[in-house]
Amino acid sequence: MEFVPDTRNDIDSWKEVQLIYNSALKEIGTKLEILNDEFQHVHQYNPIEHIKSRLKSPESIVKKLKKHGYESTIQNMVQHVNDIAGIRVICSFTSDIYRIAEMIINQSDIKVLSVKDYILNPKPSGYKSYHLIVTVPIFLSDRIVDAKVEIQIRTVAMDFWASLEHKIYYKFEGNAPAHIKQGLVECAMMVSDLDARMLSLNEEVRCLVEGCDSEVDIMEDID
Ligand code: GTP
Ligand code: MG
Repeated sequence: MEFVPDTRNDIDSWKEVQLIYNSALKEIGTKLEILNDEFQHVHQYNPIEHIKSRLKSPESIVKKLKKHGYESTIQNMVQHVNDIAGIRVICSFTSDIYRIAEMIINQSDIKVLSVKDYILNPKPSGYKSYHLIVTVPIFLSDRIVDAKVEIQIRTVAMDFWASLEHKIYYKFEGNAPAHIKQGLVECAMMVSDLDARMLSLNEEVRCLVEGCDSEVDIMEDID
C-alpha cells in the first residue's frame, strides 16, 4: 500500500513522515548489513566499506518542491520527492556495486521504481554512481505502507570525487570557472582509471592466492 500521510494536522503528519522514512532507512540499512555479513561468511571479504544514511531536511525538501513547481504540502513531499530517505553505500570495487545492487533488487519485498547507472553513463560533470529508487514495506501496528528510499552506490574513489565536486559546486553556486570544471572532469577520468586498475590488481592477487576459478568452486559448493 502506498504511504498516504494523515494531513489533518501539519505537525503530526510531518512527524509521521519522519517516522516512516526513518524506518525505511533502518530496513534498507539492515538488509545491506546482512548482505555484507553473508558475503564475509561465504567469500571472506566485505564488499561494503561503509554506509551513510540521512533524512532530507525540511528546508531541502521545500526547496526541491519549489524547483519542480509544486506547492509545499506533506502530500507533495511524499509523492514527488524520491530522496526524503537517502542511503549511500561505499564499496571498494566497481564490481561490488553491481553485486550489491543486484542483491537488493532481487529481494522479494523490494520494488524498484528507477535505476540510473551513472557509471555506464556518467553525468557531464564527470559524476559516477549507481542510483536506485526503491520502496520497502514498513509494518505499522494497523497497516503496511511502502516507503521510498534513494540508494546511491559508489566506490571510495567515486565518493571522494563526488564530495569535493559537491563542495566546489556550492562554493560557486553551480557556476564554477571553466578550468575548474575541466579539472574535475579530468579527475573523474583518473578516478575511473584508478578504479579499473585497483580492480584488476585485486583480481590478479585473488587468482594467485586462491586460483582463478575459486569463485566458481564456491558456487558449486553451495549447490
Ligand atoms: P536531484 O534533484 O539533485 O536529487 O537530482 P535528480 O532527482 O535528477 O536525480 P539524480 O539521480 O540526477 O541525482 C540524485 C542525487 O545524486 C543528487 O541529489 C546528488 O546527491 C547526486 N548527484 C547527482 N549528480 C551529481 C553531480 O554532478 N555531482 C555530485 N557531487 N552529486 C551528484
Ligand atoms: Mg538528492
